[in-house]
Amino acid sequence: MAVLIRGGTVVNADLSRRADVLVEGERIVAVGEGLEAPAGAEIVDAGGALVMPGGIDPHTHMELLFMGSVSADDFEWGTKAAISGGTTTIVDFCIPGPGESLVEAYRAWRAKSEKAAGDYSYHLAVTWWSDQVSAEMGEIVNTHGVNTFKHFMAYKGALMVDDDVLFRSFKRCAELGATALVHAENGDVVAQMQENFIAAGKTGPEFHAYSRPPEVEGEAATRAIMIADMAGCPLYVVHTSSRQAHEAIARARAEGKRVFGEPLIQHLVLDETDYLNQSWEHAAQRVMSPPFRPKFHQDSLWAGLQAGSLQVVATDHCSFTMEQKRTGLNDFRLIPNGTGGLEDRMPVLWSAGVNTGRLTPNEFVAVTSANSARILNMYPQKGVIMPGADADIVIWDPKATKTVSAKTQVSRIEYNVFEGVELTGLPVRVFLRGRLAAENGKVVAERGQGRFVARRPLPAFAEAQRLWKARTAPQAVAR
Ligand code: URP
Ligand code: ZN
Ligand code: ZN
Ligand code: ZN
Repeated sequence: MAVLIRGGTVVNADLSRRADVLVEGERIVAVGEGLEAPAGAEIVDAGGALVMPGGIDPHTHMELLFMGSVSADDFEWGTKAAISGGTTTIVDFCIPGPGESLVEAYRAWRAKSEKAAGDYSYHLAVTWWSDQVSAEMGEIVNTHGVNTFKHFMAYKGALMVDDDVLFRSFKRCAELGATALVHAENGDVVAQMQENFIAAGKTGPEFHAYSRPPEVEGEAATRAIMIADMAGCPLYVVHTSSRQAHEAIARARAEGKRVFGEPLIQHLVLDETDYLNQSWEHAAQRVMSPPFRPKFHQDSLWAGLQAGSLQVVATDHCSFTMEQKRTGLNDFRLIPNGTGGLEDRMPVLWSAGVNTGRLTPNEFVAVTSANSARILNMYPQKGVIMPGADADIVIWDPKATKTVSAKTQVSRIEYNVFEGVELTGLPVRVFLRGRLAAENGKVVAERGQGRFVARRPLPAFAEAQRLWKARTAPQAVAR
């Protein structure tokens, strides 16, 4: 079945141009002016709208058992929420606990993902260390299509790893041509601050934020950057939320280090005052780590996207119901950490970024799709409108409007952290590998339609690092 999208402006990360897009089966086969429609092709009139690559959210948590609760959106509803907002691919975290096999966890995650309506890929977490972990990292990279390993520097007593594990795992990443990811917060400091507040009777959700100040993030990001540099592996700092962490990344990049930073849409537009709300529910709904920050941090994150020192915008979508959030009614440490946002990421970024002049439409495509595809190595299968790419296509109407409301969202939870935000710029049609997946926010993609996206290691990148490290390694003195 062929589809010809006519009359739009194709917006890629590098270029915008008036062009038609011809799709055959699951792939784009031609992009150009005045394309002929093959016999029997469906003609889609873009009506002057923008034609962009499907969004990629590089950071989500579907149906994850975390802090005693299972996040409410599973692969079916999470990917449907994503599609309704223009995101056709998510990269989810498979997180084996300490002592668990990476390969078994991977298999279990693949089984869980079969209900996905949109495409998905994985990062694997390293939460402990042994020869088995090291060997399984090799198997994961070489035979299971995952080239990124996540490390939690926070969540002490649960997922947190220390510097010994970081350095061992980062060195293994370097050998494998894999990229290390970090959740950068100093978990030892956070744990003590939490204890001090609880001992003083300070149990409300605002103390979630006060026990995780920007300094714990800046310190951990800096430490991870230095350890990754000594290990010779590229580093990707997830949910970069503070000026301190961003500046550490920008400094590292200016020094030639291979470091990437990922702000979340939440941290770009929401701030710490949400935790001061009179309503416990309102504040608890917004408890995530790192927490929302004082407003001035936002200027730094936006500037990072403009300057290229931060490359991608994610959601960290990890949604919990109000009942689950209420676990922490008397102790902020027990509120499951996580917020939603998958269906809002692209429209909110367009409204707050493109409509204000902070981002160009091409930069929007870069940070919502193309850069993730490049950094995580699924480009040009994903992240671009060009012949040979998957036909993941969003027809975007920059004038369409809506007001965010939990009542009309796809996500299974009862609230939305962007409630009431007025949006201008929405996806009007979304195609997943050539098939219509959503129209005006209404999802038609079905459970099970999504497919796993295997990602190979980045041998050229790893080789460049290896050459440079060999050249700058300490040498023995000939005596
Ligand atoms: O609060 C958050 N971010 N929950 C999800 C797990 C993580 O740290 O990414
Ligand atoms: Zn295997
Ligand atoms: Zn995290
Ligand atoms: Zn996360």
